[in-house]
Order: sequence, then C-alpha cells, then structure tokens
Amino acid sequence: MAETIIREVDIYDGTGAEPIVGDIGIDGDRLLLNPDNAHAAIELDGRGLAASPGFIDVHTHDDFAAVLHPDMAFKVRGGVTTCVVGNCGMGAAPFPQASVMARAFHPQAQLPEWDGYAGYMDLLDANPPGVNIAVLVGHGTLRMAVLGNSARAPEDGELERMQDLLAEGLEAGAVGMSSGLIYDPGRHAQTDELIALAGVMRPMGGVYATHMRDEGMNLLQSVEEAIAIGAGAGVAVQISHHKASGRAAWGLVRRSLQLIDAAQQAGADVHADQYPYTAGSTILSAIFRQGRFGTASDVLSADDVVIAAASGFADWEGKSIAELAREFSTDPDCAAARVLESCPGATVILHSMNEEDVQTVMRHPSTMIGSDGIPTLDGRPHPRLYGTFARVLGHYSRELGLFSLAEAVYRMTGFPAAKFDFKDRGVIRDGAMADLVLFDPCTILDKGTFKDPNQYPVGIHKVWVNGTLTVDGMKHTGARAGRTLRRGSTQ
Ligand code: ZN
Ligand code: CU
Repeated sequence: MAETIIREVDIYDGTGAEPIVGDIGIDGDRLLLNPDNAHAAIELDGRGLAASPGFIDVHTHDDFAAVLHPDMAFKVRGGVTTCVVGNCGMGAAPFPQASVMARAFHPQAQLPEWDGYAGYMDLLDANPPGVNIAVLVGHGTLRMAVLGNSARAPEDGELERMQDLLAEGLEAGAVGMSSGLIYDPGRHAQTDELIALAGVMRPMGGVYATHMRDEGMNLLQSVEEAIAIGAGAGVAVQISHHKASGRAAWGLVRRSLQLIDAAQQAGADVHADQYPYTAGSTILSAIFRQGRFGTASDVLSADDVVIAAASGFADWEGKSIAELAREFSTDPDCAAARVLESCPGATVILHSMNEEDVQTVMRHPSTMIGSDGIPTLDGRPHPRLYGTFARVLGHYSRELGLFSLAEAVYRMTGFPAAKFDFKDRGVIRDGAMADLVLFDPCTILDKGTFKDPNQYPVGIHKVWVNGTLTVDGMKHTGARAGRTLRRGSTQ
C-alpha cells in the first residue's frame, strides 16, 4: 500500500526506453509500479509531467560539503539524489591530508575529525546528508600521506603503505579510486604506480576514475594511459570530464572517442563523464605554474581565466586575471601570483573548450553526465554546480535536440548506476529504491550564469530520496534521507 501515488505520469525508466504513461507509488523507501487503484494518502496528478530515477552525479567534490552543508540543496534542488565524491585524486582520508583540501574549498569550516574512510562513511551514516553518497578513494590524498609532495617514485614499503590505505577505503565500501594527474602530488605518479594501486581493486571490482595527465595537445596519449592502467590493473575505467582543453587541442575529442570505442570493442570497461559547458573550473594553483596559464599543454590566455571564489576577496570574484592585472597595474603573471599569495585556495573558471567538441562528446554513447561542481557556495562557483542535469535535459535535449529526453535521462541514471554497480537505483521498476524526480519536460532548464551562478534550476517539481520527499516545488523540505552507498550493497 503506497503512501504516495503519482497518477498518469510519463515514466522515463532510466534504461533509455521511450516513456510510457503509468502510475508510480512510493511505499517506504521503494517504488511500486502501477499499484492497484487503492487510495493513497497523497495522490499527485502527473499528467504532462515526467518521472525519472533521481539523477546520479558521477563526478563531484562534495566530500566535505556533505558534512558541512548536509541539506545538499545545491544538488538535490537540481534533481540529484546520489553524488559520487572523491574525484580528481582528492579524497576524504587520511584526514590530515584531506582536511588541507577541505580548507581550500571551505576556508572557514570546522570539520569533525574522522578516522579513515570507514570513519568518514560512519559519520555520514550518523549525520545523513540530503542525497546518497558513494565514495572514491583519492590517489593524491594517499600519496600525500605517504610521500608528501615529493616528485620521486615510491619505494617498496611506501607503495605498500599506499596500497594499505586504499584497501582500508575499499573495505569500508569505497566504489573505486580516483587520480588527479595534473595536481600536486598526483602528477608525480608514473603509470606503473597507478597500475600497482588500481590492481588492489581487481578482486572486488572498483572503478579507476581519472583526471588525466593532459587534456590539451596530449589528450590522446592521456586516454591511452588511462586505458592502459585499466588493462594493466584489470579494472573498469572512468575518464573524468572528457574534453579537449585549449584552442590548439580543439577537435581532438573525435580521436579520443575513437580510442574509447576501440578499447570497448576489445572488451575493456571504459567510459567517461562530462559537464555540459565550454568552461572548466579548478584551483588557480593547478593552472598557473612557471608564468603560464593552463594545466599541461593547453595554453590559456589571462582573459580566459576568471576568479570563481577567493575567500576574503569577493571583489576579485568574476574578474579575469587580465582584468585584475590592469586593476593592479601589473602583468598577468604578477596578478596571478598576488591572488595566490593572498588566497592560496582560490578557484577559477577556465574558458578553454569549444561548443562543437562539447556536443561531439555528449552525443557519444560512452558519455555519462557528471557536474564536477566545486561547492564554494560563498563565491561565484562554476554554474555546473547547480545546473548540470537541468541543462542537459532542457538545453541540449529539448532545445538543441542532441538526443531524446529518454536518452538524456539514461545518461544520468541507469547508465551510471550500472557503471558503479548501484543496485536497485537509476531505474524505475517495481521494488527499486525510491530515488525519484518529478519534472516538467517542457520547462526544465538551468538558470545560473557565470555572472550569477548560485541559482537553482526551474521545472523540477518534486524530488524524493529513498522515498522521502526532499524537494517540494521551489523549496527544500529539510529532509536528509541520503545513505552511504557502499560498494555492491543494496542499501
Ligand atoms: Zn578533475
Ligand atoms: Cu573533478
């Protein structure tokens, strides 16, 4: 007997199938499809609306936001019911190293201390956030704990200590390991180190998610390295935020997609995620080294680098490095150095991609959706933090017709659920977990802009997380019904 029934709604079941009209019941934390005509306490008229599984954000940096901003409004109001945290090599443990990264994103925050990944996940269980959380172990954080920021390869005992820290996370229920090969200290890791670590996941199955070494001119070599690490370790690969960064690299995605196709045809489990924008975002310290802007071979101009969040320097936010250089009466290098000196954790927006590439990647069957949002809620974060999923549905599917709405929904529900083995999620069927979004397919759209990014999307009517109504119209109900999704578990 369902407590809530949505009547005559267009059901997008998350498999990519075209919608069928039906009734959806919510019974505790599970779905009941086409329940008998029995009366429910709450009956909703679904005519003209779409129901889909809750969106799964496979690429997030919400490890600390889930603790510090547990309502997770910036995600759940956009229809997201599950976040995969710990991407780009930056994980939640060991705590002393993780908390350094936490301070960059949340400078004022007081975090409770936790012991390893088990401690982090227990903390989430005890203080549940508004969305489900699945955890990746961050390679960079492990490396920092064992080797500091040294550029050398680990020696035997050191590699074993990193493997032990990874194993602790996997035993606690982490769904994989991420790397960030442009960042300190992850960029010091060579391919064999990453194979030796990813290989720890082989017996239990876990995903190797990677922010690759170079998304510019060496994009193809980077994709080859990612595929080789998966093959060498015998694990699945997830290429993070697939893109060609920097004008000179534009167009290379056609060939990087062919590399993914070829690996899949050879039997490899290789996919990618993408956010639907032509600008990226990261920490300024990672893209400004030795007097140039860019992460590797992707050279950017000072006009293309805009401050997103600089704690204590709100008047810099929204300005490009070129503008700040004029304001400071200096050159762009000195301007960047001054920003970093005043605010080492400053984040930036990088206008580094072209629209054709974004669409080429999005259309490709290997691509699922992930926001890569950086939850610096006080600054001017990249609008992808709020708008990613509504933008794919409203702009790319409805307005541009890049793919059907059913296909768009699949890339943010059933597809990622299968990749990360989230059992009974990402689909609408009898008995599946009641992570559900009710939205208007004619109006759903992102609203944030780079100037004014802190805006929730429109057209999302209701969101349930594990059967609990969490978004109701234009407001968050205050519910925090998220669970920690440990690898392979049915909860
Ligand atoms: Zn990244
Ligand atoms: Cu990321």
